[in-house]
Amino acid sequence: MANYLIAPSILSANFAKLGEEITNVIDSGADFIHFDVMDNHYVPNLTIGPLVCEAIRPLTDAIIDVHLMVDPVDRIIPDFAKAGANIISFHPEASKHIDRTIGLIKEQGCKAGLVFNPATPLHFLDHVLDKLDLILIMSVNPGFGGQKFILEALNKLRVVRKRIDAGKKKILLEIDGGVKVDNIAEIARAGADTFVAGSAIFSAARDEDSHRYDTVLAALRAELAKV
Ligand code: DX5
Ligand code: ZN
Repeated sequence: MANYLIAPSILSANFAKLGEEITNVIDSGADFIHFDVMDNHYVPNLTIGPLVCEAIRPLTDAIIDVHLMVDPVDRIIPDFAKAGANIISFHPEASKHIDRTIGLIKEQGCKAGLVFNPATPLHFLDHVLDKLDLILIMSVNPGFGGQKFILEALNKLRVVRKRIDAGKKKILLEIDGGVKVDNIAEIARAGADTFVAGSAIFSAARDEDSHRYDTVLAALRAELAKV
């Protein structure tokens, strides 16, 4: 079985208890913390910034996977690097100079990811693929948790999987939006190896006594084990 990674999106966590939610979800076996940054400009919603990233950094050694839905993007990158982000991903539409933005993320000591909205063409991968550590395919339009998975994303995953496998570099292929227990296996078959899930994890009841998310994470992993 491939090494699959699960990245709970804290967008759907209980923000009144964010620290506890992060500790619980990592203790329950999640791999990354997916950190959705929205600016009410690039997307019609407003979420959390570097101060929150800095506040949660001491709680876990897990990778903090920052998904920037902000425009412009460059100015905020050093702030997230200083706040302890490990991976920083951005949308090509939010950068005037994509190669420069990738370079900026790496200069700051972070891994770099490029994000593709449902209608964003893959040609943005041309000429920069080898510089990327992660490719994020959006299976919803960005801005909100709890939306329905857009099936066309499966075709996009298949194409990107081929491009990654044709190269020598290890690049994570992440999917974000509408990932649930009942579709994660199909998404893995299309080529994803890293799965963002917000509402599927945090809207599931926490395990009563332990305050953990073992049951839902086990269900997601059980589906991945079938692939
Ligand atoms: C959407 C965000 C996602 C979102 C996923 O713009 O990038 O990370 O929180 O939420 P679900 O898993 O509920 O679709
Ligand atoms: Zn996201």
